[in-house]
Order: sequence, then C-alpha cells, then structure tokens
Amino acid sequence: MPDALQISAVCDAGQIAAAARLAREIWYEYYVSLIGRAQVDYMLERFQTAPAIGEQIGRGYEYFLVERSDTPIGYFAVRADAAERRLFISKLYLHASSRGAGTGRRCMEFIEQLASRRGLPVLWLTVNKGNPSVAAYQRLGFRIAAEIEIDIGGGFLMDDYRMEKQVAACIPEPRGVDSRP
Ligand SMILES: CC(C)(COP(=O)(O)OP(=O)(O)OC[C@H]1O[C@@H](n2cnc3c(N)ncnc32)[C@H](O)[C@@H]1OP(=O)(O)O)[C@@H](O)C(=O)NCCC(=O)NCCS
Repeated sequence: MPDALQISAVCDAGQIAAAARLAREIWYEYYVSLIGRAQVDYMLERFQTAPAIGEQIGRGYEYFLVERSDTPIGYFAVRADAAERRLFISKLYLHASSRGAGTGRRCMEFIEQLASRRGLPVLWLTVNKGNPSVAAYQRLGFRIAAEIEIDIGGGFLMDDYRMEKQVAACIPEPRGVDSRP
C-alpha cells in the first residue's frame, strides 16, 4: 500500500493559512497545560498568525506542511544558518491524533536530509523544559546542550533547553542545485 504521508514546502497563501489553523488547534490543545492560556494567546498572536508566518518566510524561515491522505496533520519550520553551518528547527507540531506513530521521526529524517544536502552538520532547537517532547527528541538523537531563558516580550519568559544533534552524513551540495528533498 502506498505511503500517504506528504511533506510540502509552504509557498502560497492557502498553505500559510493551513499552517496558521494547525497552530491554533495544536497549541491550544497542547500548550495551555504547559505554559498557560495567556502565554499561548500571546505567542499565537505574535508568531503564528498567517501574516506572522508570511513575514517569517520573508526572513528566511522555511515552513513545511505535513499531510496524510491530503489532510493537514502538522507542520514544521526551519531556518538555515550557513555561516554557523547549523539548521535551526524553529517549529515541529503534529496534531494529537497523529502523534506517537512515527510521523515525527519521518519529519526529522526529512529535516536531516535537507541539512545534509545543504552541508549543515548540526541541527538545533529549543524546547520547554517541562515538555514531554524533550524525551522524544532524545529518542531522535538530540542531546541537551544548554538551559536557556528567552524573553519573548509581553512579560513572558521561555524556560527552555537548547538541544542539538549532529547530522550523520553531511555532504555539501553543488552550487545551484535545488536542495529541497
Ligand atoms: C514531538 C513530536 C513532533 C514527535 O512526533 P511523534 O510522531 O509523536 O513521534 P514519533 O512517533 O515519531 O516518535 C519518535 C520517538 O520519540 C519517542 N516519543 C514520542 N513521543 C514521546 C513522548 N511524549 N515521551 C517519550 N518518548 C516519546 C517515540 O517512542 C519514538 O522513539 P522510538 O522510535 O525509539 O521508539 C509530536 O509528538 C508533537 O507534535 N508533540 C506536541 C508538540 C510538541 O511538543 N512539539 C515539539 C515542540 S519543541
């Protein structure tokens, strides 16, 4: 049976709107118990509306929609830092009904291929210290590199770990080659 998982770069307004809809649904379901409703309201409004996502894409963030059988089930976003030779995983969120069945691992494999083809040997991300997903990232090969507090404005602080992973095979791509897997 063909695998129905699709990962597509977010390019148009419809895809941006789909990512923003997923953000609202996932963040209210998942983060209120972790960081409180007020901070979720603030972060969604500041970082995950359609205009905010469009603005981030304009600054070099790359968003991807994760779909199964043409239904959006999650999204992730990365930002390459060529000077530092690192890829920042800025977002990775799956709908509750799609967790724990290997999809996060598939997304991470896609991200690793992308990093590898761009010659970026380190993946990094930040995750709330109380988020059970810290353990998922450890299973996916990340290690805790540092504890960090990030002031996101509005009186809110993110109390996070910075986690890192070395990309196994990292071969720089020739110039001019489209690096999207
Ligand atoms: C974190 C997330 C992307 C992982 O995706 P997933 O599809 O649920 O994960 P997978 O099923 O691919 O599991 C990958 C590995 O992590 C482990 N894992 C997954 N969730 C876990 C959890 N909550 N606690 C401990 N281990 C976990 C799995 O057992 C698996 O390890 P294994 O293959 O060695 O058995 C997803 O659960 C999610 O969106 N969570 C809510 C939002 C979130 O916290 N995002 C991260 C923000 S920084």
